[in-house]
Amino acid sequence: MGWQNWVRTVEVEPSLYAADFTRLGEQVEILLRAGVRVFHFDVGDGHFIEPITMGPIVLQAIAPIVHGMDGVLDCHLMVDNPVHHFPQIAGAGGDSVTFHYEVVDDVPATIAAAREHGLGVGVAFNPETEPDDVTAVAGDADFVLCMSIHPGFSGQEFMDEAFDRIKRTRATIADGQFVQVDGGVDNDNVRRIYDAGARLFVAGSSIFHREDLPRAYRRLVQALA
Ligand code: DX5
Ligand code: ZN
Repeated sequence: MGWQNWVRTVEVEPSLYAADFTRLGEQVEILLRAGVRVFHFDVGDGHFIEPITMGPIVLQAIAPIVHGMDGVLDCHLMVDNPVHHFPQIAGAGGDSVTFHYEVVDDVPATIAAAREHGLGVGVAFNPETEPDDVTAVAGDADFVLCMSIHPGFSGQEFMDEAFDRIKRTRATIADGQFVQVDGGVDNDNVRRIYDAGARLFVAGSSIFHREDLPRAYRRLVQALA
């Protein structure tokens, strides 16, 4: 099983970084019942991005809940040395890893290293990075993650310049690969992001900072129907 089987036309992925951590398991379960298949799990090391976010211990705690209801955990590694963390992420129940183009010398070798642990793979890039540079070396990845904010925090505004990078990315990857977008995705822009070519939509505050999480998730999905 991999991304080709996980994705049902499109996937809206709740970003757990924006969850209420006092109720993490409960919120995950509520969203699984609402129909979520893929959760986005942000790992930040305090170097590549300023904050330290969460890591394998938290992943390990929620993985049985997610896997028990046929969900998967998409782990976004905002870290300087991603390869170092692949074994721990896989061991804790992560299903895929996304590493940043900016920190890796050999993208194909890094993708291969992730596959050795049975992980799906995404290659992420920041707003300043040229999409063509990324897609030229990301041919073996399942998806390419186009950041629509500067990585680090939930709750930032979507950068409109990302639309062109999404289109450029879609135009230069293979048919079987997906474009994922992360940062500032909400009800007002999700359809335009789809039209630009994305199929994987990470959504933090537009789900978790709402009263009714299932409703917030379904509204995003409906906007894509
Ligand atoms: C931040 C993370 C994002 C974040 C998105 O760098 O990579 O996944 O949680 O949150 P929103 O959707 O609120 O921008
Ligand atoms: Zn993320």
